[in-house]
Amino acid sequence: MSKKAAAKKPAKAAKAAKPAKSVAKASTTSSKSLLVENRVFKPDAGFVKKARINSMAQYKAMHVESLKNPDKFFGREAKELTWSKPFTKVLDWKCPNAKWFTGGKLNVSENCLDRHLNGPRKTKAALIWEGEPGEKRVYTYQQLHREVCRFANVLKRHKVKKGDRVIIYMPMIPEAAIAMLACTRIGAVHSVIFGGFSAESIKDRVLDSGASIIITADGGYRRGAVVPLKKNVDDALKAKDTPVKTVVVFKRTGQDIHIEEGRDVWWHRELEYVDAKCPAVALDSEADLFILYTSGSTGKPKGILHSTAGYLLHAQMTCKYVFDLRDDDVYWCTADIGWVTGHSYIVYGPLALGATCLMYEGAPNWPENDRFWKIIEEYAVTVFYTAPTAIRAFMKWGDEWLKKHDLSSLRLLGTVGEPINPEAWMWYHHKVGGGKCPIVDTWWQTETGGHMITPIPGAVPTKPGTATLPFFGVDVGIVDDLGNEVGTNEQGKLVIKKPWPSMLRGIWGDKKRYQETYWSDFKGWYFAGDGARRDKDGYIWIIGRIDDVLNVAGHRLGTAEVESALVSHPSVAEAAVVGRPDELKGQGVVCFVTVKEGIKTGRDLSEELKKHVRKVIGPVATPDEVRFAAALPKTRSGKIMRRLLKQIAAGETLKGDTTTLEDINVIAALSAASGED
Ligand code: WTA
Repeated sequence: MSKKAAAKKPAKAAKAAKPAKSVAKASTTSSKSLLVENRVFKPDAGFVKKARINSMAQYKAMHVESLKNPDKFFGREAKELTWSKPFTKVLDWKCPNAKWFTGGKLNVSENCLDRHLNGPRKTKAALIWEGEPGEKRVYTYQQLHREVCRFANVLKRHKVKKGDRVIIYMPMIPEAAIAMLACTRIGAVHSVIFGGFSAESIKDRVLDSGASIIITADGGYRRGAVVPLKKNVDDALKAKDTPVKTVVVFKRTGQDIHIEEGRDVWWHRELEYVDAKCPAVALDSEADLFILYTSGSTGKPKGILHSTAGYLLHAQMTCKYVFDLRDDDVYWCTADIGWVTGHSYIVYGPLALGATCLMYEGAPNWPENDRFWKIIEEYAVTVFYTAPTAIRAFMKWGDEWLKKHDLSSLRLLGTVGEPINPEAWMWYHHKVGGGKCPIVDTWWQTETGGHMITPIPGAVPTKPGTATLPFFGVDVGIVDDLGNEVGTNEQGKLVIKKPWPSMLRGIWGDKKRYQETYWSDFKGWYFAGDGARRDKDGYIWIIGRIDDVLNVAGHRLGTAEVESALVSHPSVAEAAVVGRPDELKGQGVVCFVTVKEGIKTGRDLSEELKKHVRKVIGPVATPDEVRFAAALPKTRSGKIMRRLLKQIAAGETLKGDTTTLEDINVIAALSAASGED
C-alpha cells in the first residue's frame, strides 16, 4: 500500500463539512438509500484557489446573465470555438425548433484537433488508451489528427458524403473515436451503437437511419471474453432490404470472422490506399452532427439528433466549467463511447478543450477488482468521471482493493447516469477522493447533449444525493401537471423552460414524435421525463424517471422495448415489464409474463425468455426475473396497472386505489407467482 493513500484521513473531510442548513433528505427511487446524509460540503480550499469559477456569487452572476442575456453570454462563449465563418445570430427559437449561431460555419474535428496543432499541444497526449488485456497506446494531438484524416479519406473512398449516415459499432478502442471524428471532418452523420446491443438492434438502427456503411471490429474484449461484434453485424445485415453497402472491419482480437466479398473491407488495408491530407469541411452551425438511439416509452428506440455548433460549444463549456479541465489534467471518463456520455465527455468536449483524455476498453473488475484504481495510479489521473452503479459495485468489492493504490493524483470526481445514494457519495468522497475532491453529480440526458444540472466545483457547496443547481443557460422548472411550480420539497415534473445550445434538434425521421414526446406536456417547455424536487436552498434532487423508462446500471431501457421483445417469443401471450429497486444496478428488470395455451411454465422457460431478450435487444437488457402469471392486472378499459406490478416486483404491500382493477384475484395470484413455478 502506498504511504500517501494510507495517509488519507476521512476524519479531516468530516471536520471540514458544515452542518446542513437545509432538509438534505436523501431521495432516490432507483436504489434503497442506506443513509441520510445531512451535511453540506464546501468546495475544497485548494480546489477553489485554482478554479475558473471560485465563488457562489460568480456562479450566480454568470447564471443570471446566461438566462437574461443569452445572446451576449453564449455569443461570448462561442468565440472560443474556431469558426470558418462567423455566426450572425446567436439564437433563432420557434418552439420546438432552435437554431443556434446561424450564419456561422465550422468543423468539429477541426475544433477538436487542427486548432491544437499550432502550439505546444501538438505533441501533447490527446488520447491515452489501455486495452483490457493490458496493451497501451498514446496518441498526441498531431498523431490523432493524422489518423482521423486518413480514416476520413477511407470514408470518402467509399463514397461517404456530407449528410450520409455512418454506423459505428466498435469496442472501446481509439479507432472508435477516430471514426467518429473522421465523420465530422467530412460532414457525415455518425450513429454509434453500444457494443452491448444485439444484431436485431443493429438492424433496426441501420434501417431507421438509412446508413450505407458500418464501421466495426472483428471483436472486442470484455471481462476476458470476446464480444463477437462482426458476427452481430453479419446477422444484422442478413435482411435483404439493408441499405448497407460497405462494412469496414478493424482487426482487434484476430478471431476468425466471415468476410463478405464486395462488402467487407479491412480497416488496415484501406489505409494503404489513402494519404494523410484531408481538409475539414466547413459546415453550417446547424448541420446534423450525430444520431444516437435511446430508449423511450414506446417499443421503438428514438434516434436523437444533435447538430454541430451548439452541441460542441456546450460540450466544451461544460468541460471547462464543470470539470474545470486544465492542460496538465489527465482526465478519465469511464463511460462507453456508445452512450452519450462517451460522445460528449470522452471525445468532443475534452478534445475541443485540448485536454488529455484516458480511454479504457474493458471491465472494472478485470483481471481483478482494482483495475480502475490501478489505472488511476499508473496514469496519475486527476479528474475521474463514472457512474453510481460502478461506485456501488466497488463498495461491495471492499476497500482493500482501493488501499492497494495511490489515488492522491485525483482532484475532482464526477458521477452521471442515475441518482447517487448518499452512502455511495460518501464512500466516493472519502475513499476515492480522500475527502479533498469536490464531487460533481451531473444530471443530463442523451437529449440534452451535455450537463444541465450540476455543481460548479469551485463555487457550489454540495450535498450528497443532489445534482444541485442548473448550468449556464439552463432554466429549470419543477411543476405539477398544470405547469405550476410546486412548493419547496414537493415532488414535481422536471422541465426546461428555455432552449439551450446542445438541445436535441429532433428525432431522426419523426418530427411528430419529437413534438409529442418533449414539447406537448407543457407548451413551450421541454419535458425531461424525470421527477424532481427543489429544497429550500434551491438545490434540485432528481427522483428518477416518471415515464416508462428504466435506468438499469445507468443505462436507459424502455419497458415497452423489453415487452415487445418478450411477446416476439412464440410461447408468450402477454408481458408487462417493470423496474424494482436494486442496490447495485439502481433498478432491476422484472417481467410479468402470461403464456399461450398449453405452454409449460417453469425455470426452463424463464431462462429461455431471458436469453431471448438478450438476443433481441442485447445483454444490456437481460431481465433479472421472469414471473409467470395466469393474467395481468388490468383496468376495466384494458390498461395494465403497472403501479401495482411495481409494488409486487418490489415485494411491497399494495398501496393505493385498486377499485379500477378488473379482477382482484389476479393480484393475489401474481404476488405468489415466480419464475420457478
Ligand atoms: C438519469 C445519461 C439522477 C435521468 C447522461 C435521466 C440522472 C436519464 C443523472 C438520462 C443524475 C442521468 N442524477 N439521474 N446525475 N444523470 N440521470 O439519456 O433519469 O442515458 O433522464 O443520459 O438518466 O439517461 P441518458
